[in-house]
Amino acid sequence: MIAIIGGTGVYDAKLLHEVRERVINTPFGETRVKTGVYHGKECVFVARHGYAHTVPPHLINYRANIWALASLGVQAVFATAAVGSLNPDMPPGCFVVVDQFIDMTSGRPSTFFEGGETGVVHTDFTDPYCPSLRALLARSLDELNIRYHEGGTYVCTNGPRFETPAEIRAYRILGADLVGMTNVPEVVLAREAGLCYGLVAMVTNYAAGISTEPLTHEEVLNVMNSNQTALQKLLAECIKHFPEEKGCICRVSGVHFQNLWPCERE
Ligand code: HPA
Repeated sequence: MIAIIGGTGVYDAKLLHEVRERVINTPFGETRVKTGVYHGKECVFVARHGYAHTVPPHLINYRANIWALASLGVQAVFATAAVGSLNPDMPPGCFVVVDQFIDMTSGRPSTFFEGGETGVVHTDFTDPYCPSLRALLARSLDELNIRYHEGGTYVCTNGPRFETPAEIRAYRILGADLVGMTNVPEVVLAREAGLCYGLVAMVTNYAAGISTEPLTHEEVLNVMNSNQTALQKLLAECIKHFPEEKGCICRVSGVHFQNLWPCERE
């Protein structure tokens, strides 16, 4: 099964048919998903902020979302995210296949492994995003003639406020290209659960201080809306070309997770 996690501006799995809404109960609370089929492949869609964008980044139940996907037998997750840009080579409208992150969040439950029965587990993050999914995203973007950047470092802030120009200057010095509020701990939990995870970021604005105008959520939504068609085509292309049988190194990281929750999983 293939999952799509839709970020800001992506609230529906328009390309799926035979769509069924389901509520999945997890040890971390419930998650609403939509299952369906595209190109003969079973897919599941999750709206990260809820289907009416009611959940702010710091309150998203990331563990429930990823646990639900693992329980449905998902192998690979294609995630979308609206981001601000710190890098003049990545202007608004640009797509980026993200390859590194910097975590500046705080207070978010960010692991499945909390000690005790769940154990102490230190997961490797040398390659935080699945290399195979990154390659598939890049190939599909090429195929569709969509302008994009191969590789970029995403700094995840806690939000929900936008950043100060001083913070953005500091993140530039740290090596960030993009700023968003949601990719951590989502990408971390996916790896802990042994899921392949790829992120396509869409630049909606220059970050605070790089842009001289105040930032607004409307601006972010407007750019996302104008990118809808390209994004849907990209997801369709990725699902179409997703290989049937795939042994990926990302699975190896999920062994402890699989041992912990073997029975409750569907
Ligand atoms: N900062 C944080 N998150 C964002 C931004 C931004 O500038 N744009 C879109 N999501």
